[in-house]
Amino acid sequence: MTSRGIRFREGGPAAEPARPVRVLVTGAGGQLGRDLVAALGGRVPDGGRRRALVGPPGPGPGVDVIGADHARLAVEDRAAVLGAVDELRPDVIVHAGAWTAVDACQADPDRAFAVNALGTRHVAEAARRHRAHLVYLSTDYVFDGASADPYVEWDRPNPRSVYGRSKLGGERECPDGSTIVRTSWVCGAHGANMVKTVLRLADGPGELRFVDDQRGSPTFSADLAGAVVTLATERLPGVFHVTNHGATTWFGLARAVLSTVGQDPSRVRPVATADLDPPRPAPRPANSVLDNAALRLAGLPGLPEWTDGLERLVAALHLERSPA
Ligand SMILES: NC(=O)c1ccc[n+]([C@@H]2O[C@H](COP(=O)([O-])OP(=O)(O)OC[C@H]3O[C@@H](n4cnc5c(N)ncnc54)[C@H](OP(=O)(O)O)[C@@H]3O)[C@@H](O)[C@H]2O)c1
Repeated sequence: MTSRGIRFREGGPAAEPARPVRVLVTGAGGQLGRDLVAALGGRVPDGGRRRALVGPPGPGPGVDVIGADHARLAVEDRAAVLGAVDELRPDVIVHAGAWTAVDACQADPDRAFAVNALGTRHVAEAARRHRAHLVYLSTDYVFDGASADPYVEWDRPNPRSVYGRSKLGGERECPDGSTIVRTSWVCGAHGANMVKTVLRLADGPGELRFVDDQRGSPTFSADLAGAVVTLATERLPGVFHVTNHGATTWFGLARAVLSTVGQDPSRVRPVATADLDPPRPAPRPANSVLDNAALRLAGLPGLPEWTDGLERLVAALHLERSPA
């Protein structure tokens, strides 16, 4: 068993006795993908903690995890997706691969829809062929942000950006019975995210400016991965909002990052989205706080406070910067 790259079936007898649940993760090189592969392997992802996992702490040896990163599997390539799934025969596919560059998507809608919507069509087709359970990662940006309240799973999506529309397109490709996990403002130990941006800017001089009129829930991929593992292995159908608890603005998040590393948070100044220079190409929802109503109403534990996840992520990044 390997948890990195696609392992193709070895030669030998075709008969397969009961085997571990085989989970294929797309986008396995991304920040969530890497933490998912760790969590599916029974390990605590960087910046995670055992009790952050929803349910038991990782399924351990009962799961055979296959991580397919972008270089190995580009989901817009239908033949490649069908071929890989034919070969690997996963029981569950966690489709985390996506083109997540929100502003770049705005400039290239065809590519955004090819990867995020058509790519998901291919993954869904492959899952249907093999009766694999599909778990699709989606986004808070499917909402327009006009509501003053947190969005529940049953609220009507109305995306404002190409990225949001393309991800909603992906949701609509998922067969009945799939799990759709909408999350927001993902930050993890691997890959680029706002926490790392703030830490990098904080190393330089002067003030930092972040918008104070976009509100959401920072979500830490180590915590998110634990919840996705549970939803995937339990094959719970339907839409689930899964974010860390609590909400803030990008300004609030940047201040919290500085406080967490012992720096003066007043270095961060608020700015209105309309005053950003240059303006960002893609519109963002003013409010994209997701009420994790389906988890709560089903009696499943939610994720910890976002400030708690932030502290664990900063500690993990600090260890990485200054190994013992
Ligand atoms: N990041 C967020 O704030 C956020 C918020 C809400 C929802 N989500 C969703 O959560 C999921 C995971 O996001 P993330 O934060 O882990 O983002 P990420 O770090 O950008 O990971 C996405 C991965 O998908 C890969 N990918 C890009 N194009 C692909 C393609 N054509 N075929 C297959 N893989 C492809 C990327 O590879 P390369 O980098 O090598 O191209 C990357 O490794 C995504 O579905 C995303 O839409 C993210």
